[in-house]
Amino acid sequence: MNVGDLQRTHSCGELRAAHVGRVATLMGWAHSIRDHGGILFIDLRDHAGLTQLVIDPERAPEAHATARQVRSEFVLAAVGEVAPRPQGTENPGLPTGQVELHVKRLDVLNEAVPPPFPIEDDLDAGENTRLQYRYLDLRRPRMQKVLRARHEICQVMRSYLSSQGFLEIETPMLSKSTPEGARDFLVPSRLNPGRFYALPQSPQLYKQLLMVAGMNRYFQIVRCFRDEDLRADRQPEFTQLDIELSFTTPDEICDLIEGLFARIFEEVLHTDLPRPIPRMAYAEAMSRFGTDAPDFRYGLEILVLDDLFRSTAFKIFAGALAKGGTIRGLLLPPGGKEWSRSELDRRAEWAKTFGASGLAWLRREGEGWSGPIAKFMSSQEGGELVRRTNAAPGSLLFLVADSRDVAAGVLGRLRRDLARELNLVPQGRFDFVWVTDFPMFEFSQEEKRWVAMHHPFTAPRWEDLDRMQSDPGSVRAQAYDLVLNGTEIGGGSIRNHRAAIQRRVFEALGIGPEEAERKFGFLLQALQFGAPPHGGIAFGLDRLVMLLTGLESIRDTIPFPKTQKGICLMTDAPSSVDERQLREAHVRLVGSDSD
Ligand code: AMO
Repeated sequence: MNVGDLQRTHSCGELRAAHVGRVATLMGWAHSIRDHGGILFIDLRDHAGLTQLVIDPERAPEAHATARQVRSEFVLAAVGEVAPRPQGTENPGLPTGQVELHVKRLDVLNEAVPPPFPIEDDLDAGENTRLQYRYLDLRRPRMQKVLRARHEICQVMRSYLSSQGFLEIETPMLSKSTPEGARDFLVPSRLNPGRFYALPQSPQLYKQLLMVAGMNRYFQIVRCFRDEDLRADRQPEFTQLDIELSFTTPDEICDLIEGLFARIFEEVLHTDLPRPIPRMAYAEAMSRFGTDAPDFRYGLEILVLDDLFRSTAFKIFAGALAKGGTIRGLLLPPGGKEWSRSELDRRAEWAKTFGASGLAWLRREGEGWSGPIAKFMSSQEGGELVRRTNAAPGSLLFLVADSRDVAAGVLGRLRRDLARELNLVPQGRFDFVWVTDFPMFEFSQEEKRWVAMHHPFTAPRWEDLDRMQSDPGSVRAQAYDLVLNGTEIGGGSIRNHRAAIQRRVFEALGIGPEEAERKFGFLLQALQFGAPPHGGIAFGLDRLVMLLTGLESIRDTIPFPKTQKGICLMTDAPSSVDERQLREAHVRLVGSDSD
């Protein structure tokens, strides 16, 4: 590239001892400036690294005069000779640390006002400031590295899937609502007053239609939009690797994806992915880990203790069992931390916020157990509990007596919280698991009806089909999720390729024929034209990059993310629009003057 009359010859991360004696032209940002008795040292930074510039007032008076004006983040072009650093001043921590550039000419390509925070990895600026000046935040080496890893992961996805016969095909952004469990972002249509497009929550229906269209194997790295409450691992717009195949089976899809991850591990992380990835049925994951996204990196499995408390004298436990509930426990080995009584009380209050009636505890002491409920236990029960839990003296056993869902849910959360709090989560490990055999439907207490656990296009296990109307809670789906370190990174299913079965699923979900026709008529029609059996999967790319690069928030993997409130602090979107734009879009604001 030519800048003025200069041409960049190397990046700032490139020069080594082998370049000594060569003339190089570097371009980048003034990272730091030091004055050592008249000689100026500037660390010049670009996307690739840092190189030390040396500007000597005797050898290059003009360049030196320019350098004296340089401030942090000025954009510079430096021409000079690559020289070895004087003995003892080498910097082994820097790839270019053996050399420096003895500058002959220095041009200021642009000036910069002082940045609101230093462009360094170790930063104590708040996230809001970082997001407001995201273009400066992204100059930091760590952020550059993440975006590079994201790019490399996408490159592997593209090349691997192409090699497996997949075509990358784009689907519309201005589309019709596809239910994935969130609210839609709506776009008013100027040309069709009163009508709205929905931004896609996923390309689910389009990819199925591409299978009807005979495209055989599809993928897309695609933006999805969901208007939902945000968390550290959710954004209102995020990216999916979306995949669909014809004439396929869950086993084929799992193998394909394992092959993809093996390639990502090999080419981006330079390690091997242990294969095959283990599989676990939903019911087992819920029972042992209290979640459908279990984290295998640490133990603390949930214990089922119903039989042990079968004839307990403790009324609350007996009552829960009599109502068909369960008693589950979580054993914390000794040595983690000393729990005070008030802390244990606080934990019990915490458990109540998740619907549990309480959180009991027992401490393993002497021959048996101590704690408020120990007096209700016979020595036989105590002894049996020691044998069953293998608890060492000083261990703490948390107990929940409740319905299965509540007990598993609370202990699953407690397990995750305690593992973090007590530093039981090993870093640098990647534990994958496929979770299979999901229930097809779950009962929504809020809506008082059955809702799809994945989405309504997922096929039931064919052998459970007959129970779809009579006992929807017992029907399993042909669905699978891929979980990495306790986070769901992807999910998919075999679809309903026959219109009649798709209609029955709608019916089980309380979507009557009229509503089905209005919302999904185009799909039902397409399924009648010889839709092939098909299935697929989609991955959250942002989440995946977050986990593979060891980050805590998906915001750090997205160049321009939104805050938890859905705001872009840099551009101030969403913002108000003027009257004329609203009029043209046929939109009137509630409570506005014109209302
Ligand atoms: P699902 O809704 O499970 O499936 O989404 C697939 C994956 O997308 C990621 N994800 C998100 N990432 C960031 N922010 C969000 N708000 C967000 N929501 C979801 C998750 C999730 O596992 N059409 C189906 C896939 C299929 O059946 O083929 C779908 O979208 O990592």
